Amino acid sequence: MEQDKAIIIRPSREGDVDAMLAIYRRHIRRGVEDGVDDNDTPQPDDLRDRRKNLKNRRFPHVVAVVGEKVVGYAYVVLFRKRPAYRYTVKHSIYVHHDHVGQGVGSLLMRGLIDACAAAGFRQMIGYIDADNAASLALHKRFGFTRVGLLPGVAYRYGHWADSVMVQRSLGSGSTTPPPPPALSTR
Ligand SMILES: CC(C)(COP(=O)(O)OP(=O)(O)OC[C@H]1O[C@@H](n2cnc3c(N)ncnc32)[C@H](O)[C@@H]1OP(=O)(O)O)[C@@H](O)C(=O)NCCC(=O)NCCS
Repeated sequence: MEQDKAIIIRPSREGDVDAMLAIYRRHIRRGVEDGVDDNDTPQPDDLRDRRKNLKNRRFPHVVAVVGEKVVGYAYVVLFRKRPAYRYTVKHSIYVHHDHVGQGVGSLLMRGLIDACAAAGFRQMIGYIDADNAASLALHKRFGFTRVGLLPGVAYRYGHWADSVMVQRSLGSGSTTPPPPPALSTR
């Protein structure tokens, strides 16, 4: 049975894109993300390009698979584009609706944190809808602390909604300087 198979975390591949898009679209339709209509959702090529672009720049982009099935994915982008922020990433994580609450999000988070630390990033930042209990619990479990509340930044289904900003350090965080450029992994 599918449920009995191990959940594997691995770097995403081109062939995973359609499954990732299906996961993302479903969450959007259910309003977890934007509550916008499907016309605004990314197309397969958008996701394909973003994945390739991130991979080329060595930003972690991982999937969770059970057997052959992609049951979740997670990735990071730079927190801000200006060079001073090059050690800080912002992450996203999505689990297939049939597989939430089964530990997939935790495995993806573990994989993403480890990959980001190994890549030399020092801080990881997330934005979470204030009413997203599952995501708040997941981040708390992995040592993210709440560093901000952004009131009324989203409007969906007739309501203004708040976002919570969370942060976690990676490796030695801000306690040591980054490696000298020649030795830097980035
Ligand atoms: C948020 C999300 C990634 C969590 O993934 P998941 O696989 O369901 O999480 P896990 O099963 O690994 O559980 C992680 C923690 O969250 C808790 N949790 C899971 N679902 C929960 C819920 N509905 N309410 C409260 N806590 C919940 C679990 O108990 C667990 O905490 P614990 O280890 O202290 O017991 C997943 O629900 C998801 O993809 N949601 C839609 C997209 C989304 O919101 N992404 C995050 C954007 S910031």
